[in-house]
Amino acid sequence: MSQIRKVRKAVFPVAGLGTRFLPATKAVPKEMLTVVDKPVIQYVVDEALEAGIEHLIFVTGRSKAVIEDYFDIQVELEQTLRARNKTAELTLLESILPLAGSTSFTRQQEPLGLGHAVWCARELVGNEPFALLLPDMIMKGEKGCLKGMVELFEHSGANVIAVEECAPDQAHKYGIVGVGEKIGEGFAITKMVEKPAPGTAPSNFFINGRYILQPEIFPILATQERGAGNEIQLTDAMVKLSASQTFAAYHFRGETYDCGAKDGFILANIAFALAREDIRPSVEGPLKTLVSGLK
Ligand code: G1P
Repeated sequence: MSQIRKVRKAVFPVAGLGTRFLPATKAVPKEMLTVVDKPVIQYVVDEALEAGIEHLIFVTGRSKAVIEDYFDIQVELEQTLRARNKTAELTLLESILPLAGSTSFTRQQEPLGLGHAVWCARELVGNEPFALLLPDMIMKGEKGCLKGMVELFEHSGANVIAVEECAPDQAHKYGIVGVGEKIGEGFAITKMVEKPAPGTAPSNFFINGRYILQPEIFPILATQERGAGNEIQLTDAMVKLSASQTFAAYHFRGETYDCGAKDGFILANIAFALAREDIRPSVEGPLKTLVSGLK
């Protein structure tokens, strides 16, 4: 077997319009909406860094420039904080600043689908395996989802897709995989289907938005074939790649919040607030009162 290369780069597709969050997303990208006090994108970047990722590649679109600014120094703000001796705030800003030269930004000019967004990153990824993190999904677990996936990748060399279980009547909303024999901590993927028609899903394991893919996915995406929803689907390209390469499923057992939907976003705020020692004491009581008062 050829040597397994390190996963050094992660792709974040952040070009989506966020129509489900209008009017908020008229002027603020959905990835910049805050869960407690951090933008959604920061949680996803933190998960990538925890997994050992060295280079962050953002596939952005028009009116997303603020994401680029967020990952840069804010000179005026830092000068003001320094003048006011706000050391804790300065330290916080320094701690989230990516290393110089470790971020790249490219644009998806038209919303042609997830497969197309990933293809837009091909030159920046080059000829090496890469992680892909869909920023709508933020995760909470003892070990980050991507970290567990990297371990499975380093053990197997397979393309790795993280999956979780969903209620059977929810399967039509996702990419669904069928699983077979065990591969290390994961399972071989025997089937993949994007948004199966109700009642036709091969299992209730849905793709939760985390992938480790080999670069051979790019020439397949380049054919720009349309699938479900008339979009260029990543899942369809993965099905083609699975004819020549192994795909493994990593079963993530933490909690996932879909911050692309209002209910998931609100639950994420509650869950992450309750996990914070500085916030929980003042939130827990009123929250219990609110819930117990529900009719
Ligand atoms: C995308 C993927 C799908 C995956 C989902 C997770 O779909 O195509 O396979 O299950 O993300 O959120 P989208 O949510 O863009 O429709």
